[in-house]
Amino acid sequence: MLDSTYEIGLGNNDLKTRSDAARDGIKFWETQAAKLYWFEKWHTALEWNPPFARWFVGGKINASYNALDVTVKKNPNKKAIIWEGEDGTKRELTYQELLSEVCKLANVLKSLGVKKGDRVTVYLPMVPELIMSLLACARIGAIHTVIFSGFSAKSIKDRVEDSKSKVIITSDGGKRRGNIIQLKDIVDEAISDLDFVEHILVLEHTKNNIAMTKRDKKWHELVASMSPICNAEVLDSTHPLYILYTSGTTGKPKGVLHGTGGYLTHIYSTFKWIFDIRDSDVYFCTADMGWVTGHSYIAYGPLMHGATQIMYEGALDYPTPAKIWEIVSRYKVTILYTTPTALRMFMKFGDELPNSNDLSSLKLLGTVGEPINPQVWKWYFKIIGKEKCPIVDTWWQTETGGALISPVPGLETIPLKPGSATRPVPGVSLSVVDEHGKEVKPDSKGYLVVTNPWPGMLLTLWGDDEKYKTVYWTKYKNVYYPGDYAIKDKDGYIWMLGRADDVLKVAGHRLGTAELESAFVSHKAVAEAAVCGIPHEVKGEAIISFVVLKEGITTTMQLKEELTNHIRKTIGPIAAPDQLYFVKKLPKTRSGKIMRRLLKAMAKNEPIGDISTLEDEASVDEIKAALAELQQTLDKF
Ligand code: WTA
Repeated sequence: MLDSTYEIGLGNNDLKTRSDAARDGIKFWETQAAKLYWFEKWHTALEWNPPFARWFVGGKINASYNALDVTVKKNPNKKAIIWEGEDGTKRELTYQELLSEVCKLANVLKSLGVKKGDRVTVYLPMVPELIMSLLACARIGAIHTVIFSGFSAKSIKDRVEDSKSKVIITSDGGKRRGNIIQLKDIVDEAISDLDFVEHILVLEHTKNNIAMTKRDKKWHELVASMSPICNAEVLDSTHPLYILYTSGTTGKPKGVLHGTGGYLTHIYSTFKWIFDIRDSDVYFCTADMGWVTGHSYIAYGPLMHGATQIMYEGALDYPTPAKIWEIVSRYKVTILYTTPTALRMFMKFGDELPNSNDLSSLKLLGTVGEPINPQVWKWYFKIIGKEKCPIVDTWWQTETGGALISPVPGLETIPLKPGSATRPVPGVSLSVVDEHGKEVKPDSKGYLVVTNPWPGMLLTLWGDDEKYKTVYWTKYKNVYYPGDYAIKDKDGYIWMLGRADDVLKVAGHRLGTAELESAFVSHKAVAEAAVCGIPHEVKGEAIISFVVLKEGITTTMQLKEELTNHIRKTIGPIAAPDQLYFVKKLPKTRSGKIMRRLLKAMAKNEPIGDISTLEDEASVDEIKAALAELQQTLDKF
């Protein structure tokens, strides 16, 4: 039953867009693509050689031109970015200023030998220069690959090695909760034996002392002598725009590769439909640029629409737990896009903080990254949106480029159900299927699949077409498998139920269990490790690890700390386990598969009965025996 309380929209009632999309999906996407600026129009809307899709083939386009020049021509003084630093410093950049800075930086990159198709790694804090770096790469056809500034040296090394970036852009430091993260030192450590890296371009931000070598160049020094004009490279629609590494079920992160024309079309359209962006809006997306949300809905989406957006450097609850609400109130934010993890944290702080700030400017609220609990949804609706703002729960992935399931209040008003991302956006076809690919009955749990190619979809995995095929396209023939469980209810609303594979979502961050396990095993004391996730009231999922030590090594509290720090150092602080157990042996099936669900049940204190049916390959006796052994040897401290 629909809850009439949530029949709230923005007054838009465009039924044509959805019906056009249903009539002819490809023609529909062509109509959307025509809204962008093309140097030359495409000759073929879609070349579909499953599983490889090439959109708007023959078309010539540039992402930075669409993100900057288009608005500069109409409204050069429109504010593009209003930035606030953690220490309260403020900066504003108009579209004209942003374009000039991007051009100067693009000229710097050229002077450093960066050419079309070269990769540039970007490892910066949330400062406007991060957006400039993406757009400068895009301007000259270089492929940007951003690494979240919370990742460690080892994570950077793996990514830089895989992408073979010849230039890395970083800064002297990043500010986080009053501390300085030594980004440059981390990069130095990461690339100490990667001789293909020719230059590190260093932004001065925190002004702390850093070591510079001949290879290192100072951003401000190089930019100072550069022209603020740099013609945007005329690129093929299918030219790669960026690589973004994300975790999967194997130990190694995957380099998701996105193209230009199709990707931009998807982002341009969904940004308008979902957020109903208007000229007067002040948009605030709290994501970090290190994640796909930052790429699609901070960098490209808002800028292509000439929107004004807020960018905040620090943690949303620092220096005060009301920081986010102070920002909303100070800048009269109209659209707020954040994560369920952040909302659960704000909710815990109580209603007093949002209630004592003026949130009346808000017109639309969004969430992304994890399933949102209905009670959190209702809190967001009532306490933040004051029951007047629709909530857009947007489901998508790094691989999908942009949102695939979400309410679209920019087009239509439909009743919202707390906890459901509602329906696919126009032009996207989905289904919920069983193990054999057959559509399940309404209200039954199954796997979500995308049944048609869509413009934002990844081109491939960087340098690994085979892996691309295996990961996403082999479970079912010619349909995309995202790896999420879902339910479609009787009204056609989709409820996302979390990952169906060994991928965790910790505070919205995607982490692979295999990646975590291999990080544990890279420590000299560890023989074997198994990791699983259990529900956590704020972070969504918490990381639980079971570690088998090598012969002769004793379990101590100190070793436990050392291993936790080892994970911080190998992957990054976000991957530090919440609980770590030493065990003598990992429970495995006869074929050697770790009984991960048993570990999960163990950590959650669930009875064996509940799990006995879940391990496909093991008998109930086997599981009982494994559990008994595990309980006996578990060293909890
Ligand atoms: C999960 C983030 C439920 C999902 C944009 C997906 C969600 C993974 C939602 C991708 C949502 C994302 N409701 N689950 N609204 N949005 N997810 O690549 O499991 O970091 O497969 O992209 O996040 O995570 P990624």
